[in-house]
Amino acid sequence: MITLSLFKADLGSAVGHHKPPKEILSMAKEGLEKLRKRKKIIDFLVFNAGDDLQVLLSHKKGKRNESLYKEIWNLFLYITKEFSIPSKLYGAGQDLIAKKYTKGLEGTGIGIAEMSFKERKTEPVLVFGADKTEPSAFNIFLYKIFADPFNTPGLVISLIMRRGFEFIVVDLEKHKKASLKAPEEIYELLSLLGSTSQYAVREVYRRADKEIAMVGTITKLSGVAGKYIGKDDPSMLIRVGKGFPSVGEVLEAFSFPYLVNGWMRGSHYGPLIPVSLKDSRVSRFDGPPRIVCIGVQLKNGEITYPTDMFEDVAFDRVREKALEYADLIRRQGPFQPHRGTLEEMRYTSLKEVINSLKKKWKKLD
Ligand code: 13P
Ligand code: 13P
Ligand code: MG
Ligand code: MG
Repeated sequence: MITLSLFKADLGSAVGHHKPPKEILSMAKEGLEKLRKRKKIIDFLVFNAGDDLQVLLSHKKGKRNESLYKEIWNLFLYITKEFSIPSKLYGAGQDLIAKKYTKGLEGTGIGIAEMSFKERKTEPVLVFGADKTEPSAFNIFLYKIFADPFNTPGLVISLIMRRGFEFIVVDLEKHKKASLKAPEEIYELLSLLGSTSQYAVREVYRRADKEIAMVGTITKLSGVAGKYIGKDDPSMLIRVGKGFPSVGEVLEAFSFPYLVNGWMRGSHYGPLIPVSLKDSRVSRFDGPPRIVCIGVQLKNGEITYPTDMFEDVAFDRVREKALEYADLIRRQGPFQPHRGTLEEMRYTSLKEVINSLKKKWKKLD
């Protein structure tokens, strides 16, 4: 069995929430190279999605391995203390909420997505990282990939895929999970997936043989910290081809820039733009929200041929559309539905602003 473990955290960025300086990525690579030499991991991949550092490990230690979790915690803390803080980066160590290591990295603020499987004859995997949005932003895309035949013809054509996929949906408020099966429960599934302020997909399984197809990070930083400290920028892994949606079917879901929550101060809806790694940074209104995808081929756990999947003219029109969408919705300024609902804003300082107006309220006459 091979395990892929994807960890993500914002350890600080420049300028503002733009992207991490290259030193952060090189320090992460150095640290992981040591782990590889000590044979704790087989291989690794380091990249950034906007201002978030993303670290993918391949190893044989299985999911929730405490010794690897500690290594990651120590590495992220080391980078923060030795580089981000002395360099006075913006949001230095932003996502390291816990003071010290806690079991399972729970409550630390580090996002984790892990999957274990027997490596197939050929094992392509897509690694996604998004910035200035939240885990439930993936809901609409995952529905299209694993449940919508208009996006994924394999659901109709493939003997394995036509048996459908099982979605594990997490209630981010109540910290519970539910299993819903496509195709027969798609309406119920959509009742949850469409409620993006509360539900996000953590895993997807292929029903024909219960093989893991997708896993995503589902941290809710405000839930951990009790206040808004940065958005819960999500990442995910998707196995592709040979009985899973093909590379192209997965990427096809990103051919329309659906609106997601996040963007400026984690408080505004905006289009999710698929971009190449060179554009994996944010600027306008601290965005617009972006997603990058690195495709890899596993070779006995080795991560080979890392490929920048959105670096393609085929996505130019989506990007163009996304910018138009951004222009339109920005006109809405501080008004809903560009700005999030009061419920969605409850961890932000908007609540304090509204509270400060208490004395202004008089009885209706
Ligand atoms: P190839 O024939 O190029 O392997 O592609 C198969 C496929 O199903 C692509 O969607
Ligand atoms: P990040 O969550 O990506 O750090 O962004 C925070 C923010 O408030 C941007 O406006
Ligand atoms: Mg940041
Ligand atoms: Mg971020």
